[in-house]
Amino acid sequence: MSRLIVVSNRVAMPRETRAGGLAAAMHSALAENGGIWFGWSGKVSDSPGPPTELDEGGIKYVTVDLARDEYDAYYNGFANRTLWPLLHYRLDLVDYRRDTYRGYQRVNRSFARLLAPMIRDDDLVWVQDYHLMPLAALLREEGVRARIGFFLHTPLPPPDLVVALPGHRALMEALTDYDLVGFQTEGDRQACLDYLINLAGGSLTYDDYITMPSGTRTLVRCMPISIDRDLVAQQAMRASQQVTVRRLRDSLLGRWLIIGVDRLDYSKGLHDRFAAFGRFLDRHTEHRRQAVMLQVAPASRGEVPEYRQIRADLERQSGAVNGRFSEADWVPLRYVNRTYTQSTLAGFYRTARVGLVTPLRDGMNLVAKEYVAAQDPDDPGVLVLSSFAGAARELESAVIVNPYDIDGVAEAIHRAITMTLPERRRRWRELDEVLRGWTIADWRESYLTQLAATRNPGDS
Ligand code: G6P
Repeated sequence: MSRLIVVSNRVAMPRETRAGGLAAAMHSALAENGGIWFGWSGKVSDSPGPPTELDEGGIKYVTVDLARDEYDAYYNGFANRTLWPLLHYRLDLVDYRRDTYRGYQRVNRSFARLLAPMIRDDDLVWVQDYHLMPLAALLREEGVRARIGFFLHTPLPPPDLVVALPGHRALMEALTDYDLVGFQTEGDRQACLDYLINLAGGSLTYDDYITMPSGTRTLVRCMPISIDRDLVAQQAMRASQQVTVRRLRDSLLGRWLIIGVDRLDYSKGLHDRFAAFGRFLDRHTEHRRQAVMLQVAPASRGEVPEYRQIRADLERQSGAVNGRFSEADWVPLRYVNRTYTQSTLAGFYRTARVGLVTPLRDGMNLVAKEYVAAQDPDDPGVLVLSSFAGAARELESAVIVNPYDIDGVAEAIHRAITMTLPERRRRWRELDEVLRGWTIADWRESYLTQLAATRNPGDS
């Protein structure tokens, strides 16, 4: 059996409490046949030394520190001030600089040089996300012959937006150095094909391979990521006994809980979500004092100016909503910048009558799926879901909203709170069916089977 080599910007070390479903899926895939997880250690160092290696449970974790200038150019710069906003359709926030692009390339090259000697020809290499788009080409330059796949966790916008990025062609063509490229939705896959066919001279074969004028062949597929539905359901049931979950429930005094859980990021639509909650309280005075919204939003990428800005904006806005509507014995919006474990969150989801997932753009959004999996089948809550999250392509029985339409989201909250039990049950059953039919294990097995079966020109 082939070994698996996972490469990602962040590496989830064993027993890390914050690690989510993706980390668990990678751990179990790596543990099955042995393998390596390679990436950034999460540390910035004055003089980064050689990679650190940890062997545990048949998995070798290999991590590297970044120098301050690498961290600034690669992570804070090109990955999170250029690519992230571009991939989330936010051209207004794209900050392109040649020096950060060079830093991005440099870190990718240094990853390739460190990793290449560890790879055997019959390994499967699986590269994750936008931080590492050029990695396959750089690994090939280092003589790697193993199959290499890529999965983009974010959306990919159509070519009209991508061409706004200086150097877009090199970046998009770099995808064709992979044997398999996977996307979250059919729309993202189509955007990639449109670019490669219309702007880079590629052609698509009947079996989903894109062939480039240079002779490379890449399988391009849509494979939406999912969750471990049974695990989340179990966690949610057990967590109702946890102190943190019980305290939350007790503090509600029988009021409806509306919950949102997102990294503090402008793509998540938190500003519009708070506005919609305010509008809901404004319009539906009968629900005042009856509803509480809990927004969990751990701070993220704090050195990037746009993230500092959104943090300051939301602090102001949450204060304004509470200042306007609070009563001596009721504060409508609880805004919390901290992380909770997966199982505590599962308990929170089960407590909440409404799951509010309203990103302006999102590759998938696993909170939407986790919220569904955590519900009590006899008395399930209602998922209100943005049509611009990848999850909306599958979770069609959610209450689907346009997150830019503040009135519409306010009405959706009202509808969710007043929805009859039979309707809540019907919708939940349909959503749960989707989650049962395609789990995180199906996702990774399907990806790796397809990667192993790719045919590249070197094969005879
Ligand atoms: C998104 C990205 C991931 C990233 C995560 C957390 O989900 O697709 O690649 O790891 O955000 O962001 P951070 O910058 O903290 O790693």
